[in-house]
Amino acid sequence: MRQQLQPQPPIDAISRRSLLSAAAAGALALTLPPAARAPASGTRLRVRRSARPYSTPLPIPEVLTGADLTIPMREAEVAILPGRRTRMWTYGGSFPGPTIRRPAGATTRVRFEHRLPRQAGELTVHLHGGHNRCEEDGQPGGLTAAQPQSLYCDISAGLSATESGNELLIAPGGERTYTYELIEDGAPERAAFQWYHDHRLDRTARNVWRGLAGMWILDDELDASLPLPRGQRDIPLMLADRSFDARNQLTDPFAARRRPPDDGVTGRHVLVNGAVLPYHRVRAQRYRLRVLNASHFRAYELRLSGGLPIVQIATDAGLMPRPVRRSRVLLGPGERVELVVDFAAARGRRIHLLSGRRRQGPNKLGSVSYAGPLMQFRVGSQREPDRSAVPRELRPLPAWVAEAPAEPSHVWRFTVGGGLRPRWLINGRSFDPAFVEASARLGQTVTWELRNQTAVAHLIHLHHTDWYMLSRNGRRPPPWEACLKDTFFLDPGERVLIAGRVSDYTGKYVVHCHMLDHEDHGLMSQFEVLA
Ligand code: C2O
Ligand code: CU
Repeated sequence: MRQQLQPQPPIDAISRRSLLSAAAAGALALTLPPAARAPASGTRLRVRRSARPYSTPLPIPEVLTGADLTIPMREAEVAILPGRRTRMWTYGGSFPGPTIRRPAGATTRVRFEHRLPRQAGELTVHLHGGHNRCEEDGQPGGLTAAQPQSLYCDISAGLSATESGNELLIAPGGERTYTYELIEDGAPERAAFQWYHDHRLDRTARNVWRGLAGMWILDDELDASLPLPRGQRDIPLMLADRSFDARNQLTDPFAARRRPPDDGVTGRHVLVNGAVLPYHRVRAQRYRLRVLNASHFRAYELRLSGGLPIVQIATDAGLMPRPVRRSRVLLGPGERVELVVDFAAARGRRIHLLSGRRRQGPNKLGSVSYAGPLMQFRVGSQREPDRSAVPRELRPLPAWVAEAPAEPSHVWRFTVGGGLRPRWLINGRSFDPAFVEASARLGQTVTWELRNQTAVAHLIHLHHTDWYMLSRNGRRPPPWEACLKDTFFLDPGERVLIAGRVSDYTGKYVVHCHMLDHEDHGLMSQFEVLA
């Protein structure tokens, strides 16, 4: 198996003034690697300069808290690398897009306006981790005039706009208001760190790469009643890797049409909230770090420099039953963790959030994690009083977990199909919006098995609800997985048993790999919730 996972220096070695005399520029250009050369314009030569590490403050995206929001999807020039700005497809003009922060149980309407160029085609927005009506879930849709064929998915011919989900898409120049009730099983949803991103058939990887991703924080009373750090000491961090050309513009890694099983796209730079190796000033107190892996393919194995302890308090689906002390945290695409870090132990020091090579896993080569620093925390030298704490008990598991059937009623098998057009398959099929692989009745708790029969890791994400991991390869999962989650790391050959309770809404919901090229290349299917 080949993968695009060579270790990369996180910082370009080339860093210099952008304006040079033509002669000096010409001489220098010869000494640069080809990727760093740029065409001269007049007497100026623009060469990509990369940030000095830890010279950019950590961007914190704007937070929107209203019940009725409007977010234009539009092109914007975003400052990412020093020098020329990067033209991106954004939610609201920034990357990441604005963070939406709402109380559970409070109906929220978000109007997304498609103001991107026509070439973007139809778009669809999925709130990842949310429990929503199937029409509000960001269905991928099917074939349209702008996308008359799919290279990897076998889409039934002659589907109506309802059968394909096309009636739910947002056409260029159009808009759609998504309604989120933020309830589950009749009660306010559990607080969680979620995110929203594009989910269009065949084009999710391209659309997200260009910038269509933002964070979403759902609050609830239980979370608010705990003495956890809040306010400025509650920081969302989106990890996403991207590559840029010599003019600071995003590369187009999708043009090369890399095929399964070698279709994982990685970027040269790992961005944290859209910045390369940023720094953030913190007080010598506890902080809550909400970390999202929004990368297409890369995994991270997080740790802190200086051996600073990490206490995990939440997964994809919010607070765990109990906090778990961890030294390293593996985070695959689509997954989230919430960590409490006490910087009092590092007063006056600089602490780095790092990612290292995976230490564990039955087949670590199925997904090699990024190795390198991600960002720096500059810890104040003042002693600070701190009334925050991490309670011993956080959120109990819901009652249905104890009633989950021990045996799976359905097995989702992930394979790769050979032939001239290799693609990812689930139970022998690539995605078809008209095909339903499994079903569950409202109010039912189902147990399903996820089985990875390929040589590559996959991050299996199921829409509709949160899922409890009953076992991994027949064994009890570790404490950080014996929790509710919505995205599951499956190394090659692994089998995971999960249980979920379907409620409130009927209709079709997708199951897919969150490695976005895998999703676009067929690794997606559906289940239906029946009345
Ligand atoms: Cu974050 Cu169906 O995806
Ligand atoms: Cu995958």
